[in-house]
Amino acid sequence: DRLWLVVPAAGQGRRMGADRPKQYLPLAGRTVLACTLERLYAALPEARLCLCLDPDDAHFDPAWVPFADWRRALGGAERVDSVIAALTAIAPDAADDDLVLVHDVARPCVTVDDLARLVATLADEPVGGLLAAPVADTMKRDDGAGRVAATESREGLWHALTPQGFRFGLLRRALREALSRGVSVTDEASAVEAAGQAPRLIVGRRDNLKITHPEDLALAELVLSAQRQ
Ligand code: C5P
Repeated sequence: DRLWLVVPAAGQGRRMGADRPKQYLPLAGRTVLACTLERLYAALPEARLCLCLDPDDAHFDPAWVPFADWRRALGGAERVDSVIAALTAIAPDAADDDLVLVHDVARPCVTVDDLARLVATLADEPVGGLLAAPVADTMKRDDGAGRVAATESREGLWHALTPQGFRFGLLRRALREALSRGVSVTDEASAVEAAGQAPRLIVGRRDNLKITHPEDLALAELVLSAQRQ
């Protein structure tokens, strides 16, 4: 079976408040996008890559792509639209039971170890699964007016990270179906769950953070330099 990597990189990253999408901000002397692709390539050099880019992208440089076999897809309005566009772009060459890993371009700190363990675990999983980290903080629900309404049990709660990996045929059907039924799809697993399947949780490192807010860039710098020690 082939291994595919889908990297949605068509977001605007407005929460960063920067002059360009966050994947093009400098990190570790390169860009966030270059760092993320470098990690993925270090772990999975044989994978085939599909990168989703904004149709009006003015920053992308193909020199940042280390993969020999790669293609691009045009991103859509939401992350899920970008992922579906990528699945359409690989469809002519993908078999239904090929494994597709979807990884946010904004997660440059994913480790080679976590990637290798994810792929090894999913080899024996007919559905698929995701890297995830147990929730460590106490969880509060608000009353809508800035006060605590309740403390929720964190027992059994996980942060959903990426990559998330599923069989091509199942993932494509699940995403399309979820969209057409109006299910909110913020990750691949939620679409697969809506299709009645139970994705496997694979414990991943908590420092696989998603760069979202300005302070996350400094955190990612620290994580990358600590991981190189
Ligand atoms: O904005 P957020 O961090 O939630 O985006 C998650 C990922 O989805 C990022 O890698 C972003 O580039 C990507 N994305 C996309 N197409 C969109 C919106 C987000 O590829 N329309």
